[in-house]
Amino acid sequence: MAEQHIDNLRTIVGDGNVLLGPEAATFESDYRRVFHGKSLAVVRPGNTEEVSAVMRYCYVNGISVVPQGGNTSLLGASVPDATGTSIIVSLARLNRIRAIDAMNATMTVGAGVTLSQARSAAEGVGALFPLRIGSEGSCQIGGNLSTNAGGTAVLRYGNMRDLVLGLEVVLPDGRIWNGLRGLRKDNAGYDLKHLFIGAEGTLGIITAAVLKLFPMPRTVSTAFLGTNSPEDALAIFKLMRERLGTDVTAFELISSDAMTLVLSHLNDRPSPLETPHPWYVLVETSSNADQEAAESQLVGVLSDALSAGYATDAVVAANARQAADFWLIREEISDAQTQTRGSVRCDISVPLSCIPAFVRDTTAKVLAIEPATRMIVYGHVGDGNVHFNPIRPADVTAEVFVRTHGAAMAQLIDNAASELNGSISAEHGVGIAKRDELLSVRSREELDMAWAIKRALDPRNLLNPGKVLPALPE
Ligand code: LAC
Ligand code: ZN
Repeated sequence: MAEQHIDNLRTIVGDGNVLLGPEAATFESDYRRVFHGKSLAVVRPGNTEEVSAVMRYCYVNGISVVPQGGNTSLLGASVPDATGTSIIVSLARLNRIRAIDAMNATMTVGAGVTLSQARSAAEGVGALFPLRIGSEGSCQIGGNLSTNAGGTAVLRYGNMRDLVLGLEVVLPDGRIWNGLRGLRKDNAGYDLKHLFIGAEGTLGIITAAVLKLFPMPRTVSTAFLGTNSPEDALAIFKLMRERLGTDVTAFELISSDAMTLVLSHLNDRPSPLETPHPWYVLVETSSNADQEAAESQLVGVLSDALSAGYATDAVVAANARQAADFWLIREEISDAQTQTRGSVRCDISVPLSCIPAFVRDTTAKVLAIEPATRMIVYGHVGDGNVHFNPIRPADVTAEVFVRTHGAAMAQLIDNAASELNGSISAEHGVGIAKRDELLSVRSREELDMAWAIKRALDPRNLLNPGKVLPALPE
């Protein structure tokens, strides 16, 4: 039977686009090698019609489908289960920029276009596609949409949900919904695209999208700051927002343990600041003023932050290369942590006003469990979102740390966020890793609505089964 299915899928997408065995293996684990599964085959359709034909075939034959983009999910959303009965549908070949409408400030792209490809295409017409995440070279627009990706420019431009005007989606029965509308005003009924954004491939397969473009700012300035505490970091943030408004594009917090870890991961790169500080902030502003005017405005605010004692040191990047060096430190923290192994990964958000108390109280609770734990705390603090990641001390093995402390620490961190009306997944989604935790943080009403949508759109439960939606108790 399996052989027959594989042959029929080959007929749809061509022999070379059905991968099996070792060729399929890289698609069956996530890039961090934390989640592992087995597929019947990896199928690589070359256009929307082929996705539709594959999906129709699977619908008729009851084969489940795991849609996959760049496979950079942190929570196992793009990896199949262990049964070997699902196919993985890789959207990578849908990598065409279909159209750019500079006047309408939109770009229509296939789901397999990588984020850096999309950003370059926008730059080609002098525009900005603002989504920015560390995996931009390999993550794909379809995955960015399916996980409602966030990243370091959300403060100014919003999440992926805010950056899209229209979608093309292949439904579970193979029908194609062409919702590729490039309209900024369109109030004619339900806005169905938002069902598929952030659904992690459980409701349909996004095959193309109309993305919003923005004017390229004339000047971008970047600074690295030292500060004594999250309170002081937020005081700097408030000052910057009051003085520079929406020119503040990114405001990222880094704990001293995260800084030590990432600098050593980057071959003992020197810190941008001369002395160590308990916390660091990376800020970026975008402006339509010229370089000199924009920079003197930034320097003015930073001087005031230093005089007020909110910042303990500050350096403004002298050129684009130095700015890129600052950003590399920030972007590499996640991989530094992956390579170190033995950490607890949490991605919480709380109201901005609660960040200082959250960090202080939760750090104390984690250290009460294991006092030598290193606190890898970093992220998009301007959005109220921190990656709060206790990591093992050097003399404890990864296995022992995760086995003895992992679950307890993750639980107390997520509980602390929930108690402050926060989220247990600010930007990384649910996948398989956070699925069952939704039972304790979402009401029955909310979960019932989610299942009602799932059943209505995917009555045979074929799309990314087992992800996002927890099984409900009777
Ligand atoms: C980051 C990823 C982990 O902010 O979300 O680096
Ligand atoms: Zn992040």
